[in-house]
Amino acid sequence: MRDVIVAANWKMHTTPREAGALAVVIARRTVAEGVVRVICPPFVCLAAVRDALADADPAVAVGAQNVHHELTGAYTGEVSAPMLEGLATWVIVGHSERRRDAGETDEIIGRKLGRAFDAGLRPILCVGEQLADREAGREAAVVREQLAGALAEHAPDRLTRERLVIAYEPVWAIGTGRNASGADATTMVNVIRQALLDRGVRDADDVPVLYGGSVTSANIGEFLTEPAIDGALVGGASLKPDEMAGIVARAGMTAAARGLA
Ligand code: PGA
Repeated sequence: MRDVIVAANWKMHTTPREAGALAVVIARRTVAEGVVRVICPPFVCLAAVRDALADADPAVAVGAQNVHHELTGAYTGEVSAPMLEGLATWVIVGHSERRRDAGETDEIIGRKLGRAFDAGLRPILCVGEQLADREAGREAAVVREQLAGALAEHAPDRLTRERLVIAYEPVWAIGTGRNASGADATTMVNVIRQALLDRGVRDADDVPVLYGGSVTSANIGEFLTEPAIDGALVGGASLKPDEMAGIVARAGMTAAARGLA
């Protein structure tokens, strides 16, 4: 049975002073049996969030938003996977904002994935097409290409053993208030699982796939009524406790319906 997961991507928001308190409020307002909760604050807030959650609710996991593809070296300003030990147990890899702003390629993203696996970090690999791709009918091809590039160097059985999570995040839906439809997201989630199968991942059905892109408490139901979709990667709404309460409560209904609670 696949996990039902709600992951909060705080992006470049919160200071170390603010982050712990916000994490505690969110943790207290999102208690739902069977739902895996993850908060991904900025690097500099990881320790504060870890410490705050250790007291308030150790069931909420802490994730980083990125990790470097090398272990150590002359990479000013970067953070490697071993440095995250004790700070995070999850990591977002290949977010579209990093593909866009840091020029991350599928090959680099694949190497980051390997570093996450080696360090015991559970990765959320993000894939998703641009608006122009969708308008050209290329959304499935683009996502298949992203997966092929990122997964090329990884043995298929390692992906499930290390409990890879994938997030389908259409770029045109991120931060725009324009979410994909549940049906369109399902089509793409099916493309993702088929691509995993084609790569030899026999247990592709066990890989959780999340939807991300303008998820709110008002639209989360559209995604979680889809049996193929296992949760959400939430950006803007994840900084708002009311929104997170609604999103996780809805995820709890799905977890219960799937027999996880
Ligand atoms: P959004 O961001 O919810 O603000 O659209 C999602 C994401 O970037 O993961």
